[in-house]
Amino acid sequence: MNVDWEASTYDRVSHIQAEWARAVLDRLPLNGDETVLDAGCGSGRVTAMLLERLPHGHVVAVDAAPSMVEHARKALGDRATVILSDLTELELDEPVDAAFSNAVFHWIMDHERLFQRLHAALKPGGRLIAQYGGQGNVENFHDAARLVGAEPPFAEYLGEWHGAWNFTSADYAREKLEAAGFTDVETWLEPAPMIPEEPREFIRVVCLRQYLESLPDDLKDRYVDAVADRLGNPLELDYVRLNVDARRPA
Ligand SMILES: C[S@@+](CC[C@H](N)C(=O)[O-])C[C@H]1O[C@@H](n2cnc3c(N)ncnc32)[C@H](O)[C@@H]1O
Repeated sequence: MNVDWEASTYDRVSHIQAEWARAVLDRLPLNGDETVLDAGCGSGRVTAMLLERLPHGHVVAVDAAPSMVEHARKALGDRATVILSDLTELELDEPVDAAFSNAVFHWIMDHERLFQRLHAALKPGGRLIAQYGGQGNVENFHDAARLVGAEPPFAEYLGEWHGAWNFTSADYAREKLEAAGFTDVETWLEPAPMIPEEPREFIRVVCLRQYLESLPDDLKDRYVDAVADRLGNPLELDYVRLNVDARRPA
């Protein structure tokens, strides 16, 4: 299932993604005049943080969701080139100095192809610095979502569906990055539990997006409420992030 996002709500509720992004950006050494790829730019909120670090540089921002691309174009203006593309099909006119990505790769099933395309997008010596959902990410959350989904009246629509995320181990990421030609590869998992500021909206727009796509409109709100009830208050999400640092050989 590859469904569009609710870009403006995502932009508002994505405090935690912005917080994670700040730490990921701190791992990317920049002079300020480079051209950097934001792989899976979303609404552009995090891309703007990358741009702050590039006063004389440029960002090429890529996303596969039309609503996100539209939002990012409006938010960023001519400070970034925003491209609608699946990252597994990425073809840039010019290679970039570095690639950054936050909270994206776990939405992509084919990491071999993803890392090949990112490797091809980088100049020799260019770094890839990324973070995404890793092994064990929001496992308790999805257990609750599946248990609620197995009950009536949702089971008719969700009973057989077990999600479509690619939460891999650090070893898997290293192996696929090295196979794509990356060197100086470091990969590590980082537990990052959090309580969203707007829990119901956050799980509706981010975590339950694909479940909701399978439900008829009159059951969507009931399902979000039922999952939120099962998780209790405060609603803590058991995030586990997978960090990736790698370099295209010079
Ligand atoms: C959780 S959002 C993260 C957005 C942004 N990087 C941030 O940190 O706020 C995930 C983004 O990945 C994008 N995405 C998922 N699969 C993709 C793919 N195959 N190619 C390009 N973008 C993809 C989605 O459209 C969405 O905008």
